[in-house]
Amino acid sequence: MLVVHADKGTETISRNIYGHFAEHLGRCIYEGFWVGKDPAIPNTRGIRNDVVEALRRIKIPVLRWPGGCFADEYHWKEGIGPRDKRPPMINTHWGMVKETNAFGTHEFLDLCEQLGCEAYVAGNVGSGTVEEMQDWVEYMTFDGDSEMANLRRANGRDKPWRVKYFGVGNENWGCGGSMTPEFYADLYNRFQTYVRSYSGNRIVKIACGPGSENYHWMRTVTERAHRRMDAISLHHYVRGTGNWTRKGSATKFDETEWFALMKNTLTIYPLLQGNIDIIDKIDPRGRIGLFVDEYGTWWDAEPGTNPSFLYQQNTLRDAVSAGIFLNAFNKHCRRVRMANIAQTNNVLQAMILTKGAKMILTPTYHVFEMYKVHHDAKLLPIDLQCGTYQHGSETVAALDISASKDKSGRIHVSLCNLNPKDSAGLACMIEGIQPRNVSGRVLTADSMNAHNTFDNPHTVKPVAFKDFRMEDDVLTVRLPAKSVAVLEIK
Ligand code: AHR
Repeated sequence: MLVVHADKGTETISRNIYGHFAEHLGRCIYEGFWVGKDPAIPNTRGIRNDVVEALRRIKIPVLRWPGGCFADEYHWKEGIGPRDKRPPMINTHWGMVKETNAFGTHEFLDLCEQLGCEAYVAGNVGSGTVEEMQDWVEYMTFDGDSEMANLRRANGRDKPWRVKYFGVGNENWGCGGSMTPEFYADLYNRFQTYVRSYSGNRIVKIACGPGSENYHWMRTVTERAHRRMDAISLHHYVRGTGNWTRKGSATKFDETEWFALMKNTLTIYPLLQGNIDIIDKIDPRGRIGLFVDEYGTWWDAEPGTNPSFLYQQNTLRDAVSAGIFLNAFNKHCRRVRMANIAQTNNVLQAMILTKGAKMILTPTYHVFEMYKVHHDAKLLPIDLQCGTYQHGSETVAALDISASKDKSGRIHVSLCNLNPKDSAGLACMIEGIQPRNVSGRVLTADSMNAHNTFDNPHTVKPVAFKDFRMEDDVLTVRLPAKSVAVLEIK
């Protein structure tokens, strides 16, 4: 039984929960976004049009760049000015490959303008300087007469850009400098001082938070730096096995690995709560946001590809995992005000895979498209009692659900059926309104590992959902096995 309290709800689901992340890693930026002067791929100032159009269709709200681990070895001044004069560098984290710096600050902010999304720039604390960080913010956002603003003008951009979000480092407990939380918090306080809000651009400062269950990092950094941060990050990657050396195949798996991913994805609930409890104690007025600015599935790289490029296929299993993550973020939107799935193109749990001029949309993309109805909608409280999904001796709840009401009063309920074998019946009461019209869409397929390929790009895509009936104000739904559905109730 599901009860949706359509007459209650006080929190707004920020559209930024549906944010994205693009790193200089493998083929995410180069090939995924940037094709330069390649005449075979239609582009606008070097940025491919098909990818921009696809991301506009899911109303991408915010894009985080340039990393990830890459952020803490990125020196932005190498990525401005004439492209043929930009010095190359070695991308030491991701395969020791040559980074040409062809895609830099101007290209990224042009991309954000083409996408119509906010920019989230991650600054370099690990190997950068305070001066370098201060200069970058001034270069991008200062309207007046200064060395950096004039350098920007000399490079072809007169007006400053709007850069709303700025991260002070990334994973500084690991690839971003192997720091202790005490040391990082002191560095954060120092660096952020010079991240200025220029010319009416009010910048939101994000401190580096922990990876997964490192509550000590969250507590220490928040205690020491909370007055000087607007948000703190959290990273959480999930797999179908228990270890990082064999993460499992994205497409070749059995039910044990399906179950393991469902169970691992559900750890987002206690993880969010654990971190929110810490922040609530230090910031009871609720000023600081929790930004889950990297999350998603992480599989072994596709056979035959460079393992450092993290290229993985994306199946129905990834889509159900994404649906659960997004439901969890919706339900914690009081504190979770941004989330950025890793990563947009060709890397980890991508929205889009490209091959030359071809592009395909993944099952995860379709979940973001279906869930966009939750953007900036009011979170509705729900009560759910549902059956379980058992595999071997282990059990999880079979259904994961969230609900919202949009500005025109339409109610949207997003439902994931984690069970790959059995459909699930659910009686829904919508309290506070008289439902007149119900419609829906569902994403499912015959097999657990169904996915889209360049030869068969539409194997997994949403279709109209009709398996429900309304009787005496009770909406009875039968959700197919292994599916993600979104219902609209008016
Ligand atoms: O998204 C891939 C990597 O995962 C990022 O660079 C890093 O921040 C995280 O460990």
